[in-house]
Amino acid sequence: MTQPSHKPRVLLGITGSVAAYKAVDLIQKLKPLVEVKVVLTDAGSKLVPLKALEKASGSPVWTSLFKGSTPIAPGTPSGSHPLAVVPHIEYAKSADLVLIAPTTADFLAKLSVGMADDLLSTLCLYATCPIWVAPAMNVKMWNHPAVVQNAATLRSRGVRFLGPESGHLACGEVGDGRFAEPSEIAGQVQSYFENFNRWAGKKVLVTAGPTQEPIDPVRVISNHSSGKMGYALAQAALNRGAEVVLVTGPTRLTPPVGVTVVKVKTASEMHRQVMKHLPKMNVMVMAAAVADYRVKSISPIKIKKSQDELSLRLVKNSDILGEVLKKRKPTQKVVGFAAETDHLCENASAKWKRKPSDLLVANQVGGKQSAFENDQNELLVFSRKRAKPVVLKKDFKSKLAEKILDLLDE
Ligand SMILES: Cc1cc2nc3c(=O)[nH]c(=O)nc-3n(C[C@H](O)[C@H](O)[C@H](O)COP(=O)(O)O)c2cc1C
Repeated sequence: MTQPSHKPRVLLGITGSVAAYKAVDLIQKLKPLVEVKVVLTDAGSKLVPLKALEKASGSPVWTSLFKGSTPIAPGTPSGSHPLAVVPHIEYAKSADLVLIAPTTADFLAKLSVGMADDLLSTLCLYATCPIWVAPAMNVKMWNHPAVVQNAATLRSRGVRFLGPESGHLACGEVGDGRFAEPSEIAGQVQSYFENFNRWAGKKVLVTAGPTQEPIDPVRVISNHSSGKMGYALAQAALNRGAEVVLVTGPTRLTPPVGVTVVKVKTASEMHRQVMKHLPKMNVMVMAAAVADYRVKSISPIKIKKSQDELSLRLVKNSDILGEVLKKRKPTQKVVGFAAETDHLCENASAKWKRKPSDLLVANQVGGKQSAFENDQNELLVFSRKRAKPVVLKKDFKSKLAEKILDLLDE
């Protein structure tokens, strides 16, 4: 992704949420920052007057997939007709960001399965720039398993979620589903384009996910790491224009489009890849949950269930973070992670003293609120630039990733 040399272009999609009227305020807040073109869904047009959006944006609002396109007469020999004109696709091509605000449950579903039955959904399949959504709906809709699953699919594909917030909803209920404040959305857009340039030319390596240590040809020792934090960090570095290498253990996630993916299974493979790439990197983010031990003698055949007890002898794996810290040049920045089940602050602080990385990001694992399984997390970050550890309150991993990189930039 390259830094736009022009005023950034945002394609603002407005869908059929009760919050659609707030899009007028959003456009007014975005206009001084970016060029805004509006695409309105059919349901959206029933909930906010098109004229108000045109007045706020200062340009025509697009609603139809077919308006302005040129049909080709039957019988025209192939290759002899002018190219079909689909004007709105032209703008999707040059958009720097597609922002869908508000986004309905319906539109999340369409986006997650790749439907293309109206202008906005078609544009989303066409767009190669990042896609952000700001959902707005009733709390029961937001918590419906189908919506939860669609949101997870979209997140794993790199779609960024702004909100929803928790609070009083238009329907009178209270809970999650509130449209994020237009000023907050505009602020995120502003910081996104400001950050664009910040890491251009930087090379960043991120490790993510668990490792798997084989016991025999069919069994492994592993952990519950989902890889979500590491993938979010890779995305955040990419958003800042960095060149990103993602060294990932086995996960179910789709890597962000644009990163160089290096797939590994064992801690030894991860160690080898990290050391191979280390000399070229400016920033090393060690977010993987690497197994501390591996099986000393891997059975070449499946171990049979013949004995009542079975002992495995384990040997220590290489300390990847420790070695990176020893071998790094003074200009190379390193972010370490600590996953603790108890005494988070004390244990993480002790790890940071042993392994003084530029940042040490500590998170709680195990139990219901385990950082491993959840989309959201809260973190304690030890920074060389701060006298006290910084608490990053519970938030989506995508947002936390941005905040971690901000702390590294201090
Ligand atoms: C008055 C009204 C308000 C609505 N508000 C919402 C909402 O806030 N969120 C939502 O997901 N759907 C809402 N809906 C339902 C959507 O408009 C409906 O699912 C529609 O098909 C969405 O189409 P779109 O995603 O193409 O815009 C509302 C419907 C009505 C009639």
